[in-house]
Amino acid sequence: MKKILFATSEAHPLIKTGGLADVAGSLPKALAELGQDIRLIMPNYQGIKNEEHPRYICTLRVDNRDVNILETHLPGSGVIVWLVDYRPFFDFPGNPYVDENGNPWHNIADRFALFCRVVNEVAMDRAYLDWRPDIVHCNDWQSGLVPALLSLEENSPATVFTIHNMAYQGIFPSSTFHALNLSNKLWHTDGVEFHGMLSFLKGGLAYADRITTVSATYANEIQTPEFGYGLEGLLSHKHTVLSGILNGMDLEQWDPAADPHIASNYTARTIKQKLVNKTALQERMSLPVDENIPVFGLISRLVEQKGIDLVLACLPYMVKLPLQFVLLGSGDKSIELKVQNFAHLYPDKVAITIGYDEQLAHQIEAGADIFLMPSRFEPCGLNQMYSQRYGTIPVVRKTGGLADTIEDALPHTIADGTATGISFNDASPGALMEAIKRALILYETKHFWKKIQLSAMKKDFSWENSANQYLALYNEL
Ligand code: ADP
Ligand code: GLC
Repeated sequence: MKKILFATSEAHPLIKTGGLADVAGSLPKALAELGQDIRLIMPNYQGIKNEEHPRYICTLRVDNRDVNILETHLPGSGVIVWLVDYRPFFDFPGNPYVDENGNPWHNIADRFALFCRVVNEVAMDRAYLDWRPDIVHCNDWQSGLVPALLSLEENSPATVFTIHNMAYQGIFPSSTFHALNLSNKLWHTDGVEFHGMLSFLKGGLAYADRITTVSATYANEIQTPEFGYGLEGLLSHKHTVLSGILNGMDLEQWDPAADPHIASNYTARTIKQKLVNKTALQERMSLPVDENIPVFGLISRLVEQKGIDLVLACLPYMVKLPLQFVLLGSGDKSIELKVQNFAHLYPDKVAITIGYDEQLAHQIEAGADIFLMPSRFEPCGLNQMYSQRYGTIPVVRKTGGLADTIEDALPHTIADGTATGISFNDASPGALMEAIKRALILYETKHFWKKIQLSAMKKDFSWENSANQYLALYNEL
């Protein structure tokens, strides 16, 4: 049995902005089920939703600040969560990265540097917790300084760093490095320095014993300039300790047979019931109720990564076709405005919800026929997996985890029952439009459509396989 300290900036259902929370809320549970002693550590944000009242454990003096550690659990499980409680940094409304108005926290470097220092103290068993991990598993730039700090310690635990997204690196001016009182031993081109700047992400990549990312294809992609953002050299140099382990999905949260958020539960055997969800979705979104018109769904952070610009370029053509389009998302204000304009122009075809809505996300997965995910890059992506499980056929760009989880519907894959979605190569509106038209043609060919739906619903995206791969990696260390 391994003792694993899992450091993350978000975990569902405590607090979530994207897929990292889904992973941090489910992979630890899967590892606990495999008999591992795994504990999460994350900041105690004001926005955390938790029915259990956290228990005060201790106070640490870190970088001249008094920081409390509180203990709670991942809801619905026995997995311990340690909350790093420092009110001057974390007790504000907003999410882990931005304030109430969507502006990045002005002191975000201080916040996560403090978090990393506390993780370092806990990892070295200097936090009166009487527990010393064998492995510290860090995720994304917010915990990137942890492997760097641990490299300065004697007899420190082994470290794993998982990249969920190379587009976010935590880069700050060199003055921030000095203001953070970090050891000068870390400031060099094989350390946290990146072109004269401080890079939290590079701290993880340069010092961790093992690097993973969330799909095999993305593990290859990030070794190229297009996806590596200047770190491709470092990553290809470290390719022997870099691997891709595909995310799983939390079947307790995303199961059409038991989902409490949807109008009617269904399985592959009772797939007809999916129609009840379609009708409910059309009603909720004030779209004409019509069971024959194909409904496209999209749930996403509205940022460049997700290829929303491609969707915007296709919308003028889409609204001329017999279809409806439902979008749930938030992010870039100019994208929010542009999609909302379409909803005003075509209220019978396009329904947009700006914001974050867990329940509606489930209702779209259950009620839509087709799910759009034309990402420009996608480390793994979870919604295409949820969609398959809900019999909602994903239309995806063939990149990263989308390439690894979708079998394109071609004559031979439909014939042999492996087709589970539709994928296209070029990040261009033309290629997306062609894929959408392909989806519409297949949708009309009911026996093909049902066959694809059933293959998609049967696919195994459970965590078990991936959790075993993480365990094998921990055991190597
Ligand atoms: P990313 O982490 O890049 O945002 P993923 O596909 O891995 O992409 O995960 C996104 C997660 O966030 C999914 O669980 C998705 O349902 C959820 N999500 C994204 N936007 C919203 C929203 N506006 N409302 C509810 N859930 C959302
Ligand atoms: C990131 C990626 C997404 C991935 C998620 C969880 O936010 O953008 O592709 O699924 O992390 O690993």
